Amino acid sequence: MGITYFKNSKTFKLDTKKTTYMIAIVDKEQFIGHVYYGKRIEDEEMSYLLRIYEPPYVPTENNRDRCSFYDTFPTEYSTHGIGDYRDSALKLRSEDGHTAGRLQYVSHDIRKGKEGLKGLPATFGDESSCMTLCITCEDVFTGVQVVLSYSVFEDEDVITRDVKIINNTDKTIMIEKAYSCCQDFDGVDYDLITLHGSWARERHVQRSPLSLGKQGINSVRGESSHQEHPFMALCAREATEDFGDVYGFSFVYSGNFNAQAEGTQFNCTRLLMGINPEEFNWLLESGEQFQTPEVVMTYSSEGIGQMTRNFHNIYRRHLIRSKYRDQKRPILINNWEATYFDFNKDKLVSIAKQASELGIEMLVMDDGWFGNRFDDNRALGDWFVNEDKIEGGLKSLVDEVNALGMKFGIWFEPEMISPESKLYEEHPDWAIQIEGKPMTLSRNQYVLDIGREEVREYIYNRVKDILTSANIEYVKWDMNRQLTNLGSRVLDSKQMGELSHRYVLGVYEMMERLVTDFPDLLLENCSGGGARFDAGMLYYSPQIWCSDNTDAIERLEIQRGTAMVYPLSTMGAHVSDCPNHATGRVTPFKTRGHVALAGTFGYELDVTKISKEDRDMIPEQVAMYHQYARLIQSGDYYRIANVADTKYYDCYEIVAADKSEALVTYVNVMNLANSHSRRIRLKGLQEDALYAWEGTDLVMTGAAYMNAGILIQQMWGDYQSTLIHLVRQ
Ligand code: GLA
Repeated sequence: MGITYFKNSKTFKLDTKKTTYMIAIVDKEQFIGHVYYGKRIEDEEMSYLLRIYEPPYVPTENNRDRCSFYDTFPTEYSTHGIGDYRDSALKLRSEDGHTAGRLQYVSHDIRKGKEGLKGLPATFGDESSCMTLCITCEDVFTGVQVVLSYSVFEDEDVITRDVKIINNTDKTIMIEKAYSCCQDFDGVDYDLITLHGSWARERHVQRSPLSLGKQGINSVRGESSHQEHPFMALCAREATEDFGDVYGFSFVYSGNFNAQAEGTQFNCTRLLMGINPEEFNWLLESGEQFQTPEVVMTYSSEGIGQMTRNFHNIYRRHLIRSKYRDQKRPILINNWEATYFDFNKDKLVSIAKQASELGIEMLVMDDGWFGNRFDDNRALGDWFVNEDKIEGGLKSLVDEVNALGMKFGIWFEPEMISPESKLYEEHPDWAIQIEGKPMTLSRNQYVLDIGREEVREYIYNRVKDILTSANIEYVKWDMNRQLTNLGSRVLDSKQMGELSHRYVLGVYEMMERLVTDFPDLLLENCSGGGARFDAGMLYYSPQIWCSDNTDAIERLEIQRGTAMVYPLSTMGAHVSDCPNHATGRVTPFKTRGHVALAGTFGYELDVTKISKEDRDMIPEQVAMYHQYARLIQSGDYYRIANVADTKYYDCYEIVAADKSEALVTYVNVMNLANSHSRRIRLKGLQEDALYAWEGTDLVMTGAAYMNAGILIQQMWGDYQSTLIHLVRQ
């Protein structure tokens, strides 16, 4: 049973295979206390952990120190203004301007399965895969109802959380803060793991000791961003990849977020995650509801690696909806790094011809095919094919590519508008701006007010027209700048703070229409590389472009950080030309192939121009992809060594779910003179099974590979790599 309610102790017990989460309703005032989250336990009554009989006593028995009680009580959802001075999860402003709140339990409901979140991406599950607990509370100050929802996915060791605020009063309420998750921990002896970056340096892993006071990450950029990432983990100080307590939190949302850990005066920790209250408020009229996005949390007692695998499992099984989720993705060739804006139909067809002979399966036409778009200074919004470039029109190009046996894909940046565009001439007010005030350009473009229905309607129909004009089987949906100058013509002063969230809801609505109207379309998200690589986007697209940095060596860290939370099958990764366009580094073509294999695999170069030697390697790489794609898409991922720590080499492994085979990627990043072969211990194999190392005579037990390990012979030169394939006998 995933969720049990024990009437006598008023305790909710949420069990997954290996974890338990407990909530108890205590005191006459029906406080909703957080009792326990950790390794699975079978006991029912644990509410002594809430310490309500320790001084300062529970309020109804000792009202004198009510404030101290509020300030220490481990709660499921903290409110503002009555004495809990740790950061609050909920702040509602009443019509008369007050912001105090206190939640009191009213009722609960336990059911099988899980309902969707209106207008928002979220994990899904049927009656056999999950159960949901909804606790309805009342804010005793405003009378507003707050529903705390928890869905339990037993097999994945995951619990999801979201909150609904229902204004069933006859007054208007201003929501100033509504996090999706508030998690109180006993203790501060944790490390914090977060993902940081910049353009071309996305999601580098950072681990630092948690300290007293507040520390956190956030975005106010209107998207999840290159810089910070909506993921946070707390782990035991001594936790490693394979041992120790780890709590992971991932936010299923693509806009402004805040994730914060706060070490408190009594050495406890409060973790909050949700929509960033900065740049947010929401006017809730009488009768209206507000739904927060969802937080996915998992606990692992087996180290950071198991946390990662839990996230991979939940996202693969219960978030990605595309039919491509379990299908081998077509090997694509994208013309961006091959041609940038300098292309026409002939050039694309010549690339496609050569690519099809080499076994590449889809041509993607990137930026520059529409309007007057001969560089990145103009024409966003003018989604009409430029027939000077694409002679004979889009259909004739697509037909020609199809005739070569290849699929065809296309690039859009639907949310944007260039000041030099027909669209801007006609609708200058469609750009987000503060009326009459200076506007901030970025890449010479503005952002459309996607929260406005008529804007969405127009843009969506342009995209739809193009997609129905030819046999287009893939879309790359890009978003190349962040939001500024937040102002909308359709929002009044009280609602202006809704712009950023309305923007994200508008994007979700457009994507939902797209995947509904074109169920067979393969959608890849993108944002100046990987600035919107988040769980929200995975609900619509099974893959996301990971970074504009295609350098095989820098990709090791970018892909390691991305794979901390997201399955390898979601990471857009391409072999590109050298010297690399982001770093100038020259790496072997073979290594570029091995590194891109850990993602969706494709090419981003002009096959007609690269050296014969490199080109001749493509059919081999194509065969390699076909051999391993399924394993990489569905297997369990293990980090073995990363170059940020080792300085010299990087190594990771993918093991089939049934443990029948494993693929190890080893990259010798920097060669070390006068060194021995390197010993690597593998992970995740079946201890008592025999595995053959393909291409060698070695046959050993899983136990030997994992405990004794293997030797990787020294390689000549930097940036060399090898794949090791083990097959169970
Ligand atoms: C972004 C993307 C690139 C490419 C360009 C086109 O930077 O990440 O892959 O599509 O836009 O302008």
